[in-house]
Amino acid sequence: MFTPKRVILSGMRPTGKLHLGNYFGALSNWVRLQNESDIQCFFMVADWHALTTDYENPQSIESNVQDMMIDWLAAGLDPHKSVIFRQSWVREHAELSLILSMITPLSWLERNPTYKDQIKELEGRDIKTHGFLGYPVLQAADILLYGTTHVPVGEDQLPHLELTREIARRFNFLYKETIFVEPQAILSHASKISGTDSRKMSKSYDNCVYLSDPEPAVKKKVHSMFTDPHKIKANDFGHPRSCPENPLGCAVFSLHEVLGEPPSDLKKREKDCREGALACSPCKAALTERLNLFLDPMRKSVQYEKEGSGKINQILRQGSAQASQWVRQRMEKVLGRIGFPVI
Ligand code: TRP
Repeated sequence: MFTPKRVILSGMRPTGKLHLGNYFGALSNWVRLQNESDIQCFFMVADWHALTTDYENPQSIESNVQDMMIDWLAAGLDPHKSVIFRQSWVREHAELSLILSMITPLSWLERNPTYKDQIKELEGRDIKTHGFLGYPVLQAADILLYGTTHVPVGEDQLPHLELTREIARRFNFLYKETIFVEPQAILSHASKISGTDSRKMSKSYDNCVYLSDPEPAVKKKVHSMFTDPHKIKANDFGHPRSCPENPLGCAVFSLHEVLGEPPSDLKKREKDCREGALACSPCKAALTERLNLFLDPMRKSVQYEKEGSGKINQILRQGSAQASQWVRQRMEKVLGRIGFPVI
């Protein structure tokens, strides 16, 4: 591997097949970055992170890894350009996480807003565990181990990145050497994609359009999308709520936008919607067509990747070996600095 100007690392918990929210919130950014010069990209399947919430039911993690990898490759992540690896196959992640946990004050973790949100969101599952509280410490280890300069993430991950920077600073201060780089975020433009019910697209809300959805499923989902119930048909001027604020906040409209409808067409769509000249049904039909056009190349790739099973583990094995090689020196430096000789 060469000496790049920027080192990029990002990861996803393996939750199975990916949806449009995953694509526009992260994956599309990753694919763009891997094609830039002077960058070394690392993309990680965060299977240990999955264990923090799924420890009672870990058997599903393996198939989720496979499903997620199929979508990564179908979306254009390329093992010839990026190092694609599995967290649990690079043991240094666990080792560094342990060391960082020694120096991370509990109060930093307890005040983490994502922690508080997740405890609320995952009510019913017992995640009041040491591992789940320490989730951001493991994430800090993921990032710091590689000398990462930039982390492409969605907005929801910013508190974790800030914590990573604080932990890096504390380590460098305590052991009097700048071993860790403080990474910057690269925010994705569209971090919140609306699901079919207008809430944020998320598996737990069951409102997703998946990258691998076949045409009929896309059609059905788009037609079930929640729109203003008062705007039923074109030229429906009678109702006081039928229009002015209609398109903004509408899932159908926002998907037209993220899928790249040209600005002048989008302006016309907004105007026609507000004025009652465009009804929801043709607007949805146009979105179905746009989505299918967008998803089609990925569907074909998914098919191809599925047929080549065995290839996925080979990519992950190779990537993990490259990642291990990349982190070894920094890990030895960390241990040496604390005064633990490496055998
Ligand atoms: N916490 C991230 C998420 O839920 C996944 C993740 C784990 C990650 N380690 C990372 C993201 C390191 C960026 C960098 O999406």
